[in-house]
Amino acid sequence: MKKIILTGDRPTGHLHLGHLVGSLNRRIELQNAGGYDEYYIMIADAQALTDNFGNVAKVRENVLQVMLDYLAVGLDPNKVTFFIQSEVSELTEFTFYYMNLVTLSRLQRNPTVKEELKSKDFNGAIPMGFLTYPVSQTADITAFNATIIPVGEDQLPMIEQAREIVRSFNNMYGETLVEPKAVLPENKNSFRLVGTDGKAKMSKSLGNCIFLSDEPDEIKQKVFSMYTDPNHIHVEDSGKVEGNTVFTYLDVFSRPEHFEKYLPEYKNLEELKAHYTRGGLGDMKIKKFLNSILQDLLAPIREKRKELEKDPDAIFEILKRGTIKARKVAQKNLLKLKTNMGINYFN
Ligand code: TRP
Repeated sequence: MKKIILTGDRPTGHLHLGHLVGSLNRRIELQNAGGYDEYYIMIADAQALTDNFGNVAKVRENVLQVMLDYLAVGLDPNKVTFFIQSEVSELTEFTFYYMNLVTLSRLQRNPTVKEELKSKDFNGAIPMGFLTYPVSQTADITAFNATIIPVGEDQLPMIEQAREIVRSFNNMYGETLVEPKAVLPENKNSFRLVGTDGKAKMSKSLGNCIFLSDEPDEIKQKVFSMYTDPNHIHVEDSGKVEGNTVFTYLDVFSRPEHFEKYLPEYKNLEELKAHYTRGGLGDMKIKKFLNSILQDLLAPIREKRKELEKDPDAIFEILKRGTIKARKVAQKNLLKLKTNMGINYFN
């Protein structure tokens, strides 16, 4: 079986640390490991419209912003085909046929959709486009016969639903599609990075993000106002490490070399945690440490992003090239799909 990687993001804002550890790092690893047949990254503008249909300008503007983030973290257009979802109109055709294989109640049961519906302001009137976006996501994946989908944990229900649709399709019309598999980050705390406020998830709408494009003073300000242990008032108090955002982030981002460089008096994170738990270690010190780590991590990304920003035409050229290539593949696979369904009339 061919190894075809596909993933994507909705262009609704700049990408943040949650994207980096939840999915981008894994994408870069896959890219650098090589050994795949095809690798697509899609900017899911059409999917973004399912809950931003009244704000096309925002989605449009963020196509470029997301591309800048991709390239700044090291995704490489020589190794990855980048494309824009709405420019591959075959995807809507795939979606239309898959709609027949999914029930309304199954869509309403999708945990990620359910979760999103709670936080959206649809006033009880759920647009069909939003409810059915998992079906369109199945189209995104299967139009390229993608087998490997590097995503964050919140996308698992989408991949599960895609697998179900693939099985239904194959049962009904004969072996046509391949079941995709999700690949998640290695570190559990990376699955769904908590926001700087300690809330369940880093998310634009909650305003608790550190963006890849943030300036040094923004990063610092966000780290220093992070949620820690509300009962850890005096330095000598014993503090809690669980649910303490700074430690959750240190779990994800700190490496042995950071201790050597910034906190040589501790061997590793375990020692730092033990001291905090025992008492005698202030929040200021752990925040300073985390800030240094994040500054080191984000500086090269921000600089590269600023370079790339100077030439937006070059970015759109990459997208255009990728979209032409992706569209050819989707066209070919759509023809095969329709042939297997028995709805090719003229060839
Ligand atoms: N739903 C994804 C997100 O919100 C974006 C997306 C659309 C996607 N189509 C996809 C991800 C196909 C993986 C595969 O970020």
